[in-house]
Amino acid sequence: MSAHSLWSVQEQDFPTSASRRQQLRFLLNYAVLAPSSHNTQPWRFRIGDGGDSVELWADRSRRLPVADPCDRELFISCGAALLQLRLAMENFGPRTYTELLPDPGEPDFAARIEWGHQPVDRRSERPLFKNIVWRHTDRAPFQDWTVPACLLRELEAQAAKEGARLRFLPAGAAREPVAALISEAVRRQAANPSFRRELAHWMRPNWSESSDGIPGFAVGIRGSLSSTLGPLLLRTFNWGSWMGKAEARTAREAPVLAVLETDTDDAKAWLSAGQALSRILLRACAEGVRASFLNQPIQVPELRAELGDGAQSGVPQMMFRLGYGFHSKPTPRRPVECVVS
Ligand SMILES: Cc1cc2nc3c(=O)[nH]c(=O)nc-3n(C[C@H](O)[C@H](O)[C@H](O)COP(=O)(O)O)c2cc1C
Repeated sequence: MSAHSLWSVQEQDFPTSASRRQQLRFLLNYAVLAPSSHNTQPWRFRIGDGGDSVELWADRSRRLPVADPCDRELFISCGAALLQLRLAMENFGPRTYTELLPDPGEPDFAARIEWGHQPVDRRSERPLFKNIVWRHTDRAPFQDWTVPACLLRELEAQAAKEGARLRFLPAGAAREPVAALISEAVRRQAANPSFRRELAHWMRPNWSESSDGIPGFAVGIRGSLSSTLGPLLLRTFNWGSWMGKAEARTAREAPVLAVLETDTDDAKAWLSAGQALSRILLRACAEGVRASFLNQPIQVPELRAELGDGAQSGVPQMMFRLGYGFHSKPTPRRPVECVVS
């Protein structure tokens, strides 16, 4: 199976008469399509002996020590995969029960999810499940069409289901401070050679057969040669000034700019943020609305607090824009056999 063919997983291939264990193995195909920082896919899964549960483990061998020194985004990525597994399990079986960080002695043991016995009302979650194979990050310019307010209210509700909060930032001149913050964060990150090295390490030429990392086409680099040279250029030159301006412009022009927040800032909160993020992205995708990320001010510790919203504010975990776009393509994934035991 190629690194891109995982996206063509079909519902009708669910092995109805196979063992529960084999069924769960099939459903992990939906979990691994989750978004993750730099497409590191920092997860491992263990199927329980009885075939009724799956353990999700954080794979710290795939961490980003420079961009994500506390493994915050690593756990958010795991949370996103967890939500997609929950959706898949409930699409084909009974209600699931999830325990976050079930063993205090095992900090990498992120979650246990098991099938219960109660039937599920699939009506509300089915559009989310169906869009797992269609959701991709879209970094190209969006149309300037308005995202309906009723969809934004729904996205807030999706975040609340996982105990997180989605806050929409104002448009127009009021967005200027955030645009400036993004530009400054990019400038600081790119000035650090270790940051540039780490990012370049996860970039892939368009012809690459690699099953992880970010292909050039996903960030708008078309040709084979330019995508091959991309990592070298990223590593060698300090591109902070122009990229900072470009990202600030993206934020200014975004039809919707949102911050996802939690009450606390620990591994449990990060897993919840990841689940909320998946819900939001999948619900938006169901309406043709795409997202891309502007996380830089959250990744630079000295700037993170400035993204807050006064006393009532939660802890910012992710910032992203939403809008109508048509240009995204699937990026590679590691096949289930590489991440399951
Ligand atoms: C926790 C997290 C942080 C991310 N941060 C960024 C980011 O700062 N910039 C960006 O362009 N994409 C970011 N992404 C998107 C990933 O690069 C993307 O999910 C990954 O490359 C896989 O591509 P896909 O989303 O199209 O499946 C982030 C995703 C997650 C889950």
